[in-house]
Amino acid sequence: MKVLVLGATGNLGSRLVPALLNHGHSVVAYVRSSSKLESLLPNPVYRQISVVQGDAKDSFAIKKAILDSKADAVVNTAGLAALPPWGKSDLPVIFRAVLDAVREAGMERKKPLRTWFLGGLGVLNFPETETMFSDYIPIYLEHRQNLALLKSLPPNSVDWSMLCPSTMNPESSDITALSSKGKLIANAVTPPLWQNYWVKNIPLIGGYLTCMMNAPRYETTLEQNAELIASDLETLESPFSEKTVGVIDPK
Ligand SMILES: NC(=O)c1ccc[n+]([C@@H]2O[C@H](COP(=O)([O-])OP(=O)(O)OC[C@H]3O[C@@H](n4cnc5c(N)ncnc54)[C@H](OP(=O)(O)O)[C@@H]3O)[C@@H](O)[C@H]2O)c1
Repeated sequence: MKVLVLGATGNLGSRLVPALLNHGHSVVAYVRSSSKLESLLPNPVYRQISVVQGDAKDSFAIKKAILDSKADAVVNTAGLAALPPWGKSDLPVIFRAVLDAVREAGMERKKPLRTWFLGGLGVLNFPETETMFSDYIPIYLEHRQNLALLKSLPPNSVDWSMLCPSTMNPESSDITALSSKGKLIANAVTPPLWQNYWVKNIPLIGGYLTCMMNAPRYETTLEQNAELIASDLETLESPFSEKTVGVIDPK
C-alpha cells in the first residue's frame, strides 16, 4: 500500500516509517519540515520515501497530498494530546483537519480511505460496559472528543481505526531499528487481558483503583505499535475497522 504518514518526525511516526517500508509499503511523509525529517532519518531510509511539506491543521493541503500521491491509506500521528483534564493542545484541530481530508478524499475516490488515528488507553471501555477508562482517570481527554467525531461519521465514509495505547517507550535510540519484542496482543473496544482485582468492589473508588492497578500492564513500545499498524495495513479488510484498539505486550 501507499501510506501517507502525518507526524513522521515524532516518536511514533519516525518509527512507523521504517516499519512500513519493512512491510513493503511505500511511504509519503507529510511533515512541517522536510529538513527536520531528513536529519532524523538515515539517508538510505530518507531516499526511499516521498516527502510533502505542510501543516497538519491544513485540511485542504492534506487532501491534496492524499490525492496527488494516490495514497491508499493514511496514518495520523501528528499532534500530542494534553495530559491534564483542563489542558488544551493542537490535537483536536489537527484531528478534525485530517478527518475532513480523508473523508473528502474518500468521497472523490468513491471509496472510504483506510486511516489509523491515535487515541489513548482512556477511550477504551471497561470490559462488558460502556464506561471508559478516562471516566475514572480523567487525563488525555482530548482523545474522547476525537473519538466522538469518528463515531458521528456517516457509515462507510472513512475506514478508520483508533489505536489506543498506554505509554509507549522506545526500545532503541536508533529509530530505524525494528521491534525485537514479540507482537502485541490487540483487541477491539476494550483493553486485552484486562484484570479485575478484588478492590473493584470497594464503593466509590473501586473502579479508580482497578484502573490504577491495570494501567502499568499496558505499557508497550513505540516499535511494537509501529509494527502493529504496518502489519494491519497489509490486510484489505482489517478486523479493527471502525473500532478503537487496545494493545498489551503478552510478556
Ligand atoms: N507517546 C506516547 O506514549 C503516547 C501514548 C498514547 C497515545 N499517544 C498519542 O500518540 C500520538 C503520537 O505520539 P508521539 O509521542 O509520537 O507524539 P510526538 O513525538 O509529540 O509527535 C508529534 C508529531 O506531530 C507533529 N505535529 C505537531 N503539530 C503539527 C502540525 N501543526 N502540522 C504537522 N505536524 C505537526 C510533530 O511535528 P514537528 O516535528 O514538526 O513538531 C511531530 O512529528 C499523539 O497523538 C499522542 O497523544 C502517545
